[in-house]
Amino acid sequence: MKKTAQKITAAILCASMAASLAACGTNAAPSGTSSENKPASSNKGGSKTVGIAMPTKALERWNRDGEYLKGQFENAGYKVELKYSDNDTNQQNNDIQGMIADGVNLLLIAAIDGNTLSQTLDDAKKANIPVVAYDRLIMNTDAVSYYVSFDNYTVGKLQGEFVRDQLDLDNADGSFNIEFTAGDPADNNAGYFFNGAYDALKSYIDSGKLVIPSGKKVFEQVATPGWSTDTALENMQNTLASYYSDGTVLDVALCSNDSTALGVAQAIKSDYAGDNTPIVTGQDGDIANLRNIVDGVQTMTVYKNVSDEAGVTLEVSKQILEGNSPDGSLISSLSAEATYDTESYNNGVKTVPSYLLVPYVITKDSLQKLVDTGLYKWDSSNKYLESTASTT
Ligand code: GAL
Repeated sequence: MKKTAQKITAAILCASMAASLAACGTNAAPSGTSSENKPASSNKGGSKTVGIAMPTKALERWNRDGEYLKGQFENAGYKVELKYSDNDTNQQNNDIQGMIADGVNLLLIAAIDGNTLSQTLDDAKKANIPVVAYDRLIMNTDAVSYYVSFDNYTVGKLQGEFVRDQLDLDNADGSFNIEFTAGDPADNNAGYFFNGAYDALKSYIDSGKLVIPSGKKVFEQVATPGWSTDTALENMQNTLASYYSDGTVLDVALCSNDSTALGVAQAIKSDYAGDNTPIVTGQDGDIANLRNIVDGVQTMTVYKNVSDEAGVTLEVSKQILEGNSPDGSLISSLSAEATYDTESYNNGVKTVPSYLLVPYVITKDSLQKLVDTGLYKWDSSNKYLESTASTT
C-alpha cells in the first residue's frame, strides 16, 4: 500500500512540475538526470525518460557519445539517466537493472560484452521497455528492437584499402610485412572491423605480396581484450622481439581502433629498430591519436561522427516512443547519411533492423574536415586538434 501511495504522490508531483514548467512558457522537460542524481521515479507525468548505458569513460569516444546523446535527448524534451559501467559487465547489468526499476521508457545500450545482457534484457522486455543497441550489437536476445551503429565492416575495409593504396600493392615490386591488432573479442564490432580489413588485403596475403612475419592471421590471435592500450603495447612489443629483432622490416601495423593504435605506436617507438616509419591505422579520431597523425606516428584514423550517431539514435527512439516501428522510410528524414539494413546483423536470435552511418578516412591532410564538423578545433599552436566536447 505504502509503495502505491508513494507512486501516486510521485506522479502528482511530476504532473504538477510539468504543468508549472508549461505555465512559465517553456516546454523543456525538467533537467535530465545523470549518473550523479537519482532519476525521477515516475514517467507518468511530464516527459519520458531514456536510460543510456555506456561502457566506460576510459575509452575516449564513449565520453563524447554520452555527452552528445544526453544533450540531444534533453534538448528534445526527454529526461536522461546516463550511466558509465567502468567496462565491468556485472556493473553494467546492475546499472541497466536500476534503470528498469526506475521505470525508464526506453533503453539505449552500448554493451561492454554483447553476450552478457540476455537476462537483464529479458527483464526489460517483461517491463515493456524497448531496447536500442547503440554502436555495438547485443547478442542472444529478442529484446533488442533496433541497432544504430556505423557500417563496421566498412570501417575495416577502409583501413585495408588505405594500406593497399599507400603501398600501391597492385603495382609495387617485392613484398611488404604487416601485423594486425584487432579489438575486444567481447565486442561484436571487433570481428567486423578485422574481417573488413583482412578481406580487403587477403588477395595480397595469399599471393605473398603482403607477408605476416608473426603468422598471426586470425582474429583470436590478434584480439585485444577491453581494447586496452597497454595490452596492445605489450602484444606488439612481444611480436617485435620475436620476429623483428633480426632487422626484419615492419611496413604496416594495421590497428582496428585508436586506443590500440596508441599502444602499438608506443611499441614501435620503443622497440622497433628499423629506420622506416610503418603505416599505422586507427579508428575514432581520439585526441592523442590525432596528435600522432600530425606528428607522423600514426598514418590515418577512420572517423565516425558520433554526434550524428546520437542524432540518428534520437530519431529512431522518438519513433519507438511514439509507438511507431521505424523502417527504411526514416532514412530520408535523417540529418546524417545512413543506410537501413535488415539483413547483416543477426544477433543469434534475430536479425536486428539496423541504421548504419557512414565512416570515412582522416589523414594529416584532411584534419580540417574534423574541424568543419564543429566537434574539434585547432589548439592555440594551430598545429594540433582539441575536442569541443566538454568531456574529452
Ligand atoms: C567499438 C567502437 C569503436 C572502438 C571500440 C573502443 O565498439 O565501435 O569505436 O573504438 O569500441 O571503444
